Amino acid sequence: MSSPELPDAVPLRPEAAGSLHLDAPSSTSPPSAPVHGTPHTPATLSLRMTVNGARHQMEIDPRESLLDVIRDRLGLTGTKKGCNQGACGACTVLVEGRRINSCLALAGLYADADVTTIEGLAQPDGELHPLQAAFIAHDGFQCGFCTAGQILSGVACIGEGHAGCAEDVRWWMSGNICRCGAYPGIVAAITEVGGRKLP
Ligand code: FES
Ligand code: FES
Repeated sequence: MSSPELPDAVPLRPEAAGSLHLDAPSSTSPPSAPVHGTPHTPATLSLRMTVNGARHQMEIDPRESLLDVIRDRLGLTGTKKGCNQGACGACTVLVEGRRINSCLALAGLYADADVTTIEGLAQPDGELHPLQAAFIAHDGFQCGFCTAGQILSGVACIGEGHAGCAEDVRWWMSGNICRCGAYPGIVAAITEVGGRKLP
């Protein structure tokens, strides 16, 4: 049996690089730890980003991941750091509606991006997204550590048209690992919502 094609990677945003500002090291700043034997003061990078509809402007280290910006700078800790190397999917967020592993994304490459985390999925009045409600109805979690990533990945999976049957859901959700083994409920929830017309 031939395997379905994997989804395209979310393109980086080279056009955004023009709006980034690397501040040159100040000659009056004390030198930090040498890098490759050369005195070096880390540059900072000015980053604008919209997260869950709110505009943010911040100075970051150019080496910071999108995951660390979301969790440590914006305090949105619903997005989880599992493996921190692209293997578990716990850090999944939506960028322009497409799912990515935020632990592998350099935040600076997503200037002016529109990011959605689990905190931004429900309606402002608290009404849950249909997939959040389905996870509850189908008992799609135990400890909950993987759940935010599962739900956001599931939202994208449905939007991609890859949730028509349980077999498709298992394949297209294979990047999201659940150590509790709540897969039957996860697959049931995504398959059920995938069979509906979402608003
Ligand atoms: S924390 Fe990003 S894939 Fe595991
Ligand atoms: S519910 Fe515990 S890791 Fe998935």
